Amino acid sequence: MSTDLTTAWRGVAAEDAEVVTAPMSAMLRGRSQRLLRSLLARHGKALLAAGALIVGFDVASMIGPLLVERAIDSGLPAIQHHHDYLPLLLTAAGLALAGAFQAASDFGFTLVTGRIGQAVLLDLRQRVFEHFQFLSISFHERYTSGRVISRLTSDVDAISDLLMDGLQVLAWASLTILTVAGILVWQDPVLAGVVFCASPFAVVLTRWFRRESVRAYRATREAVALVIVHFVESLGGIRAVQSFRREPRNQEIFEALDESYRSANQWSIRLVAVFGPGVKALGNASLAAVLLVGAVRAEHGRITVGVLAAFILYLRRFLDPILDLSQFYTLFQSAAAALEKLSGVLEEVPSVPEPAGPVPAPIPAPAVLAVPVRGEITFTGVDFGYRDRLILEGLDLYIPAGQTVAVVGETGAGKSTVARLMARFYDPTAGTVALDGVDLRRMGRDELRRHVVMVTQESFLFSRSVGENIAFGRPEATQAEIEAAARAVGAHGFISRMPEGYDTPVGKRGGRLSAGQRQLVSFARAFLADPEVLILDEATASLDIPSERLIQRALLTLLAERTAVIIAHRLTTVEIADRVLIVEDGRVVEDGSPAELLERPSRYRQLYQAWADSLV
Ligand SMILES: Nc1ncnc2c1ncn2[C@@H]1O[C@H](COP(=O)(O)OP(=O)(O)OP(=O)(O)O)[C@@H](O)[C@H]1O
Ligand SMILES: [Mg+2]
Repeated sequence: MSTDLTTAWRGVAAEDAEVVTAPMSAMLRGRSQRLLRSLLARHGKALLAAGALIVGFDVASMIGPLLVERAIDSGLPAIQHHHDYLPLLLTAAGLALAGAFQAASDFGFTLVTGRIGQAVLLDLRQRVFEHFQFLSISFHERYTSGRVISRLTSDVDAISDLLMDGLQVLAWASLTILTVAGILVWQDPVLAGVVFCASPFAVVLTRWFRRESVRAYRATREAVALVIVHFVESLGGIRAVQSFRREPRNQEIFEALDESYRSANQWSIRLVAVFGPGVKALGNASLAAVLLVGAVRAEHGRITVGVLAAFILYLRRFLDPILDLSQFYTLFQSAAAALEKLSGVLEEVPSVPEPAGPVPAPIPAPAVLAVPVRGEITFTGVDFGYRDRLILEGLDLYIPAGQTVAVVGETGAGKSTVARLMARFYDPTAGTVALDGVDLRRMGRDELRRHVVMVTQESFLFSRSVGENIAFGRPEATQAEIEAAARAVGAHGFISRMPEGYDTPVGKRGGRLSAGQRQLVSFARAFLADPEVLILDEATASLDIPSERLIQRALLTLLAERTAVIIAHRLTTVEIADRVLIVEDGRVVEDGSPAELLERPSRYRQLYQAWADSLV
């Protein structure tokens, strides 16, 4: 692959390849620790039980070689010299018992840790999903869906691996190494010294492996992130890809990225290929040394043959855990990176936070029992910018309840921005946006969303039936209500002609419907939700003229009872408005009824003229 390609892709995917910047130290940072602690907090007792079981398992498995030693040193001589089978039978029974105990504690341990692990993962996935749902739109704009997916899949998997296998390995291996070392010293310090001679080599080998595998791990994560980003982007935009015959180039890029992923993996494999056999060779060398030194010592009567046999058996148990511990290290490393990223997301605060003490809208006036929300919108000195550049500056706007306002202006003028602030997808940087005099920031989320609904051109449909999509904001709606809403917006006709009527699945993102039909469905959805304030952001853009007229008739009746803000490029939609706002560069430059604005030389009149001319 040419280097420029790699660099370019690195740029595109820098955000997704976040692993590049994720900490790779063996330590858990503060927030990762907090997350792990809070996940494990409810499982204190189960963790203790698991600890007890692993100790039981370890003791039972350590007894084996000692019993073998017994059998060789006392069992066999008793048979040879006295025809006494009892000592050997007793040690055999001991072995069987230890084996049974070992199996039982293994069984218990696997069950208990499995239960803890699954409960923790369930909890984690739910927390992450819930948190993602409540994070503000501005978060989702920068956090790509690829990253969301890896949070819920590969990151959770990494933690799962750590909990299900890693901790087990860690507990068992470190316990085993310690006990075996203890037993060896106790049995014969000199021979134990021979075994420990291998330790410096083992330490050097392990450190090398750890250092290299951190680098290899980083490289594979980086490579796979690039592969995924390219995969998701190319297939997500498959229409554009095919329209512009981009397939060969995309294939080329993919192959190059995939190749670097392969070679990164190959690097990891090489490391394992060196490390595993290296440890084994070291083990065999110490085995030979133990055999030699042990034989000499047995010859001199310093140890028994049984002790030598036990040593040889223990030696293996000393080396396996060392191998397992480095495997644990790999697991821990990925889990630590995953924990870091997950805890980062979970500590992300919504940029439009829920108020501590939400004020209900409407504010019940004293002496009046209940005032329905009227739907009066006030912008007072509103400044707003997505990043550093201010889009709106000192915007003042008053929309009385029940008014239908059309917002017109050039592309990029800031119409949608005004609409998004009304629906509180963002908060202003200065000034306030209020509904019925209550600052939106002081209103509870549920309350606000019940009163203010925004329909956009996107009109996102979910892969369920038409009926369910209409009832999206009011799942409890009856079939009759759903149909009434569909009739109101003129969608009933085409829906009832569909194969299964309201039960027809709409396909992925509503792909089985035309763009106009999707808009009608999302209209019906909004009308069924029946908000006091309805914002339509180019929601009629995909409709043909007859449907648009149909909608307009529906709009007239349905908007009569509520405050409505319609953003439209087509002036047909604007005609039904009580008031027109012309927005330029984030400022309202004209404000008046359509008739008023047409009377005098205005921007609106120019626009209207141009539009009228285009019709003839
Ligand atoms: N999510 C965003 N992040 C950063 N900048 C944005 C974002 N959305 C809009 N902008 C910028 O804010 C300005 C106003 O955009 P806005 O979407 O409000 O325009 P608009 O009037 O709705 O245009 P259109 O008619 O094309 O929909 C534009 O300059 C745009 O580049
Ligand atoms: Mg817009």
